Amino acid sequence: MTSSTLPLQDRFGRKVDYLRLSVTDRCDFRCVYCMAEDMQFLPRSEILSLEQLYEIARAFVALGVKKIRLTGGEPLVRNNILQLVENIARLDGLEQLHLTTNGARLDRFAKPLRAAGVTGINISLDSLQPARFRELTRVGDLGKVIGGIDAARDAGFKRLKLNAVVMKGRNDDEVLDLVDFARERQVDISFIEEMPLGQIDEHSRALSFCSSDELRQQIGQHYPLTASDESTGGPSRYYRMADSDTRIGFISPHSHNFCHLCNRVRLTVEGRLLLCLGNEHSADLKEIVDRFPGNQEKLQQAIVAAMDLKPERHHFDLNDAPQIVRFMNMTGG
Ligand code: 5AD
Ligand code: SF4
Repeated sequence: MTSSTLPLQDRFGRKVDYLRLSVTDRCDFRCVYCMAEDMQFLPRSEILSLEQLYEIARAFVALGVKKIRLTGGEPLVRNNILQLVENIARLDGLEQLHLTTNGARLDRFAKPLRAAGVTGINISLDSLQPARFRELTRVGDLGKVIGGIDAARDAGFKRLKLNAVVMKGRNDDEVLDLVDFARERQVDISFIEEMPLGQIDEHSRALSFCSSDELRQQIGQHYPLTASDESTGGPSRYYRMADSDTRIGFISPHSHNFCHLCNRVRLTVEGRLLLCLGNEHSADLKEIVDRFPGNQEKLQQAIVAAMDLKPERHHFDLNDAPQIVRFMNMTGG
């Protein structure tokens, strides 16, 4: 058997069939939990070209990856992103091509993304109050994002999901409003515990920590929740309400470690293959695609070899300085 017919597997027996591909570190928002206010972005010479991103996606799909999520930064700020989407969507063996976005450009992009082959979209939405939304994103316009969500619905995406990072004293009073918004729009919603990626001074992550269990209780008092064993191939644990198709997910990197189910790896736009969100173990794929352009064999070998670097689990500690210095926009959210 050649390496390309074996599924990717790590030392702990976990199969890897999901790639999160960051296509840019740039973003038109500056969310307080994701970035420092004065972020430095990578110079063009240090990031993968669209051709290189495609070559890497192709290698992963040849190695059995069934799902790719394009992330960033904000993927829709990358020039000619639709061209990359079209090419990746055509890869034989890929079953799902998803995108995570802040929604600000979806009014323009929703239809073309659907036509290009995107199968599902996650849209970040942390507040339904315009002033607060502006504060949390530092620059974002809520109306524009809601317009984007509606455009995505109109474009006919089957799977639309909202993602909300919940912080004590910042937006934890809006959890029910967000659930109601998701119900009205007939989309799913996940609530995320903030992760200590990168040094931020804007708030204390320990003080703003809001556990998924608290939120579940709060929502449960209003809408009785039934645990569901559905998985969308990511870390969300889902619950259902009796009177709505909206699913409520919780992503709980602190309170419910999900590492044993981890089936994914991330590629940063610098070409670093990160084996775990909460660890620095990585392999440099840019070096390979720079040195051996178009050589799928070399690339696939490097990817297979990197699987041995995947650590067993993450250890997040909110009280110490973050051990992971890269921000989420560098990590691929
Ligand atoms: N912790 C948790 N979620 C984060 N995101 C960005 N930074 C963090 C963090 N430090 C989320 C965004 C978006 C997704 C890409 O990742 O809100 O939903
Ligand atoms: Fe941009 Fe997403 Fe980071 Fe917000 S969380 S700054 S939208 S990359």
